[in-house]
Amino acid sequence: MAPKTDQATRNVLLGVTGGIAAYKTPMLVRGLVKAGYTVRVVLTETAKAFVTPLSLATVSKNPVLHRLYNPEDGTWTNHVELGLWADLMLVAPATANTLAKMAQGQADNLLLTTYLSARCPVWVAPAMDLDMWQHPATKDTIERLLEHGVEVIPPASGELASGLSGQGRMPEPEALVAAVEAHFAGQADAPRLDGLKVLLTAGPTQEAIDPVRYIGNRSSGRMGLALADVLARRGAEVTVIKGPSSLKAQHPAVVEVPVTSAAEMHAACAERWPQMDCFISAAAVADYAPLAPADQKIKKEGGSDAGLQLELGRTVDILATLSKARKAGQWVVGFALETNNALENALGKLERKGLDLIVLNTLEDKGAGFGGNTNRVTLISSPEDVRRFDLKSKAAVAEDIADRLAELVATAAPAAGQQAPAEARS
Ligand code: CTP
Repeated sequence: MAPKTDQATRNVLLGVTGGIAAYKTPMLVRGLVKAGYTVRVVLTETAKAFVTPLSLATVSKNPVLHRLYNPEDGTWTNHVELGLWADLMLVAPATANTLAKMAQGQADNLLLTTYLSARCPVWVAPAMDLDMWQHPATKDTIERLLEHGVEVIPPASGELASGLSGQGRMPEPEALVAAVEAHFAGQADAPRLDGLKVLLTAGPTQEAIDPVRYIGNRSSGRMGLALADVLARRGAEVTVIKGPSSLKAQHPAVVEVPVTSAAEMHAACAERWPQMDCFISAAAVADYAPLAPADQKIKKEGGSDAGLQLELGRTVDILATLSKARKAGQWVVGFALETNNALENALGKLERKGLDLIVLNTLEDKGAGFGGNTNRVTLISSPEDVRRFDLKSKAAVAEDIADRLAELVATAAPAAGQQAPAEARS
């Protein structure tokens, strides 16, 4: 079970937890094996009450793992290797208990330790009673897992083990096999970006008012980090200059450089830009910063109705500055968040900042923009080439952006003129 080094993506690690739907997992394993995947199964203790290790070992043609170590001979199950072996980890059915432990980073069984060691995409198929699924605690758990980059397959609706009817069923094994196949098919067909050196900004910036206060914004960094992961999976060498965000890129090859302010972000980008092939400006950079941040905490002064005036100055427009400084062959991609006259404003930015591509999202679209897990974008490379996409998860939007970038790199020349370097084209 050596860690993978090639592009083969055929290993599925199935985690089974103790929900009634566990009785369907031999069918799921059989479907995956039939579709050509190598399947290994990790069971929790409770899952063994619903499905036997022997059934799963027989259909997967592999030993089923359920213990951190063997108490008879003291041998340890190497969850790190197992996590690295997998190209996809699917936890199905995923109980409320296991989901909550995953969200908290608990590690008291083999499934959880393997999850923490996994570098591949992780999917969960929650299965529980409808009231458990609706509970605010479960909603918090799911939100947390999404923030950690876990893909959640929503439960199906129908009759539940409790006799109640509603949302909470694990999707049928055939549906899960189809989703796995679609995932790998998409990955196999995705245009590659091998060797493309990408500099990407993500997250908000914080502009100090004094040592304890700052001006910031609501950007989570999720869109930029999702893009970093997708580009890295396609072979790009990605460096993320990341403003304050609790999120992290999942792909181990993504290099993250943490910064706080727009000025720091600019310095970090300017230093690296000459060695890069592409700049993607996904950060929500503050446009204004306090001109003279105080050294000491600012104290209240005057009466209760006395206000405070802060003088703000413009920050550097990192995107415009790097675009202007670009060498032949360097690609520049910007983002635009608009509330009105979206297309007109985005086209203005494309031209003014000399971009090859602009990713427009508008706050008029429900589910788009800051904070959430979904986005709806329009990709614009010229007034004649405006492509509008459906509302999707930010991970799926990142695939669309990567597809368009790969298409541009393969077929066009960057705005500044000359041809992209040969190694940047695949
Ligand atoms: N950007 C940047 N540096 C700044 C401000 C913005 O690099 N100081 C980048 C963003 O990362 C994004 C694009 O520029 O890619 C957004 O363009 P911008 O003109 O700043 O749009 P808005 O922030 O929406 O501002 P406005 O519409 O007020 O011009």
